[in-house]
Amino acid sequence: MTDFRRPTFPIEPLFLKRWSPRAFVPQAIPQDDLFAMFEAARWAPSAFNMQPWRFLYSHRDDQHWSTFLALLDSFNRSWAQNASALVFVLSARTYRDRAGVAQTAPTHSFDAGAAATMLALQATALGYHAHTVAGLDYEAARHALAVPEDIAVEVALAVGRRAQAETLPDALQAREKPSTRLPLAERFFAGPLPAEVQP
Ligand SMILES: Cc1cc2nc3c(=O)[nH]c(=O)nc-3n(C[C@H](O)[C@H](O)[C@H](O)COP(=O)(O)O)c2cc1C
Repeated sequence: MTDFRRPTFPIEPLFLKRWSPRAFVPQAIPQDDLFAMFEAARWAPSAFNMQPWRFLYSHRDDQHWSTFLALLDSFNRSWAQNASALVFVLSARTYRDRAGVAQTAPTHSFDAGAAATMLALQATALGYHAHTVAGLDYEAARHALAVPEDIAVEVALAVGRRAQAETLPDALQAREKPSTRLPLAERFFAGPLPAEVQP
């Protein structure tokens, strides 16, 4: 697997081991394993250490499971129904300054993304995978999860142990492999953005 994702420069293997499978073993996940992932997310950097993220979770088959699952679109539901946990990542668009006045937090999504990535890396380290899902009904999620307007619904994460690709419908089996990446030179530049690669 990591052979396929060969880095141009040597990096920690964990970065290459993390990927987004859709075949999951439909089994429970110990609370301590899920919380180890949350612990990793907790240590993510954020602007002014504001920690604007909020994580809402459901273990498969608990009292929240059907509500969480129903918020995904039908494609994502078709495979995420086998996950061990579903986690919604939210982020607060505002924060209170020292005077108690609400200020906008321009990097709230960026910070939450960093935390979600830390979660995914810890999941990988523990032998799980976390697959990000943006294909969901955002308005329904806001309502069902009681999220006020000044908190953004970012993504959902499907967390679980990987199953054999053969457990997926035929159409998804062919896509069940780690993807590669563009060459470094197409995304990383010395100095200003070259005109020919904009936008
Ligand atoms: C913000 C975001 C939204 C995504 N939404 C979906 C989704 O709705 N359904 C899905 O199957 N995968 C989704 N993915 C997974 C990406 O397709 C995947 O991360 C990308 O192809 C890179 O592959 P890798 O994660 O296996 O390295 C999403 C990933 C991100 C970061």
